[in-house]
Amino acid sequence: MPRNRKKIRQQYRQVAKQGGLTPTGQGGIAQTARGRGYSTDQIKGVPEEAVQMGLGCGNPTALAELQPGQIVLDLGSGGGLDVFVAAKKVGPTGKAIGVDLTVEMVDKARRLAAEGGCRNVEFHVGQIENLPVASESIDVVISNCVINHSLDKAAIFREARRALKPGGRLYISDLVVTAPPSEPDAPGMEIWADWLKAACGKGEYLKAMEQAGFTDVTVTAEQPYAGPGMIPALAGRIVSLQLTARK
Ligand SMILES: C[S@@+](CC[C@H](N)C(=O)[O-])C[C@H]1O[C@@H](n2cnc3c(N)ncnc32)[C@H](O)[C@@H]1O
Repeated sequence: MPRNRKKIRQQYRQVAKQGGLTPTGQGGIAQTARGRGYSTDQIKGVPEEAVQMGLGCGNPTALAELQPGQIVLDLGSGGGLDVFVAAKKVGPTGKAIGVDLTVEMVDKARRLAAEGGCRNVEFHVGQIENLPVASESIDVVISNCVINHSLDKAAIFREARRALKPGGRLYISDLVVTAPPSEPDAPGMEIWADWLKAACGKGEYLKAMEQAGFTDVTVTAEQPYAGPGMIPALAGRIVSLQLTARK
């Protein structure tokens, strides 16, 4: 496994152990979820620990468009929040599958699924640059704040396209860089340093999707990132994008 991926795994192993990056707000878990873009209805019945673990960076509008019976694949599923929300939408005739590099994340998501009696989910340890799923087996691929961690975005988009059925959709929420940090050694930069080495800007990101063969690549929303970990040296230099594309 490349060194960059080993470091990501170490970092997220720690996050899995501590149960997330941000404490539950005063308004409880529902308000925490709303702050991250999930409606109360979407998280109803979803394990609280998964909501608490949510490490995404945008409103998962993709989840709202899922249909009963669909097979959904979440790239970098973390504690499983988007998988659990998707599983409710696709229902017992569908399935939501999560893949994550970090064993502790997958263990946690599996435990939460077992405790919550959630049967139409699967979690696999794996690298999204080399997906452990059959070709043309997936209706919808989703991913929340993961792909720009990788130095090999071309492989991820190639694999996502291989996994999708013809006509299948890809929905992504991710952060991109618009300018380097104003102070590279500012306090708080440690948690961003590795991500900044791998992350690209919007143009390169969209090009990688198109080069993998995706069509109808569209940015559906774009706003300056102001979530957990944001520091003054990066303010206005990281943007949260919602993207969609078709195979
Ligand atoms: C910022 S968290 C997002 C987790 C989840 N999508 C969410 O919204 O809560 C990034 C996750 O991606 C996983 N990850 C990063 N790079 C990966 C890769 N190359 N293959 C698989 N998983 C990866 C990490 O282990 C971590 O769980």
